[in-house]
Parts: sequence; structure tokens; C-alpha cells
Amino acid sequence: MSGIVIDNVWKEYGDQIVLENVSLTIEPRGFVALVGPSGCGKSTFLRMLLGQERPTRGAILLDGQPLPPEPGPDRGVVFQRYSVFPHLTVLGNVMLGKELTKARISARLFGAARRQAREEAEAMIAAVGLSGSESKYPAQLSGGMQQRLALAQALMMKPKVLLLDEPFGALDPGIRAEIHQLMKKLWHENPMTVVMVTHDMREAFTLASRVVAFERPRDRPEEKLRYGATITKDISIWPPRQAGTPSIFRPDRDGPVTTDGLHRDDPAHRR
Ligand SMILES: Nc1ncnc2c1ncn2[C@@H]1O[C@H](COP(=O)(O)OP(=O)(O)OP(=O)(O)O)[C@@H](O)[C@H]1O
Ligand SMILES: [Mg+2]
Repeated sequence: MSGIVIDNVWKEYGDQIVLENVSLTIEPRGFVALVGPSGCGKSTFLRMLLGQERPTRGAILLDGQPLPPEPGPDRGVVFQRYSVFPHLTVLGNVMLGKELTKARISARLFGAARRQAREEAEAMIAAVGLSGSESKYPAQLSGGMQQRLALAQALMMKPKVLLLDEPFGALDPGIRAEIHQLMKKLWHENPMTVVMVTHDMREAFTLASRVVAFERPRDRPEEKLRYGATITKDISIWPPRQAGTPSIFRPDRDGPVTTDGLHRDDPAHRR
């Protein structure tokens, strides 16, 4: 299973130390929310997990193996905006990854392979609540729908790790709450580990199984370049959240619990 080990990772850009001495073990199927002040290196950290950037020092292991030095289908990613291709339809966007990996030269699938990819894509589009929009273009979708599409596109490749960089940061609160429910469902249903950067503490505590904070311990102007950010807090959510529990049928299960640890609506609680 897809555990991630980050071992004493440093990242420097020229003279600037962005991250220092970051060590973290993420359990398989965990959901880690990364929080921290603007500019402390959260996106940089995520780009290293994606393979877009290399650590200056230290190692990152995925399933015990060194992380391949470039992005691959085992790691999906969704950004705050512009994760999907504007010139492809919803269906085209979700099928693209399959077309690129299976038909490298023509980027087209034919016959049975195409039918199967299409069926899988349609099921994924339904899973994120976009049925009926298959032939629309991203510009014809709302912001929330575009992020649903980006999730479908990433999940179509069955990534071991899903990396999210403030994916819901630009959405209105109501839309955001709906997509949070979807995100929980997707985490429970898909065998993947999630690492999500967010500015929103409430979002972090709503979704994650663990909240990790990055901060720069020394932050005076003259120290900015010489000291990077590192992990200053690592909080496991209580009661523990575990992926794959049957809560997919109870999307609100991670909500408020009573003092005896049972959910308010749990039949065992209504005696
Ligand atoms: N490619 C790059 N070249 C040089 N410096 C960079 C590069 N990418 C990031 N940095 C620097 O690294 C620091 C961390 O940037 P990063 O984008 O990771 O922060 P962040 O925590 O994601 O911030 P925000 O919350 O605003 O998104 C910044 O000072 C930034 O200028
Ligand atoms: Mg960022």
C-alpha cells in the first residue's frame, strides 16, 4: 500500500532555504492536510511529492521505493485552477490520461479499448456528479463543476497518491461544503493516500485524518533566506478517521460526535 516516507528533506532555491529538515511518514490511505502561512513552502513540498521538483537534500520514498524523478500516473494532482484542458470536453478531459498512456503515438484509442475507456470515464464522471455534462467544455462549467472534473481526471488514472493544492480555495462556501462531501466519499472509495494543501483550518479538520503545519521557526527579515520552514505541528484527528470504512453510505459520519464517541444519529445512540 502506498505509504510515503519523507526523510530529512531540504529544499533550496539559490541562496534561499525554503524547507529544512522535513521528515514525515504518511501511512497508507492517510489523508494529510498541510497548513501554514503563505510562502512557507507548501506548494513546493507538494511539487516534490509530484516529482516536479527534486529535494536539495534528503529522500522521498513511495512504497519503500525512491520517488521517480518525474510526475507519473501513480500520482494525481489537482490545483486551485487550470487543472483541466480548456479545449477538451468533460469526457475528453477524463479520457485523456488513458489515451496518452495506452496509445502513445496517436493519443487515440480504437475499438474495444476505446469503448472500455469511455465506459470507465462515464462512470467516473457520474461518481463526481457530472453526468449529463459529458460534452460540455470547462468554460461552460461552474467553478465547483470544474474542480469535480479535475478530480475525475486525476482519479481516472487510479493514482496511489492524490495531491491537492488548495483545490477548493476559490469556491463559494456552499459549493465548497458539497464538494467536501464528495471528497470524503472519493477518499473512502478509492485506494489512495491524499495530501492536501489548504489555507482553511476548518477544511483541514473537516476532511483530513491528520493535520500537519509548516512554519518558519525564525522569520525575521534578515533570517528569511537562511532558515526554511519545517514541521511544527502534527495533529491526528480524534476520533480517528479511516479510509474505506462504510461511511460512504453516511457521508456525514465524520461530523459532530457525542461525548460517548457515537455519531448523533447512530442507532446505538438512540436508545
Ligand atoms: N521555482 C522557484 N524558484 C525560486 N523560488 C521559488 C520557486 N518556487 C517557489 N519559490 C519560493 O519558495 C517559497 C515557497 O513558495 P511556495 O509556493 O511553496 O509557498 P506556499 O506555502 O505554497 O505559499 P502560498 O500559501 O502562498 O501558496 C517562496 O518564497 C517562493 O518565492
Ligand atoms: Mg501554494
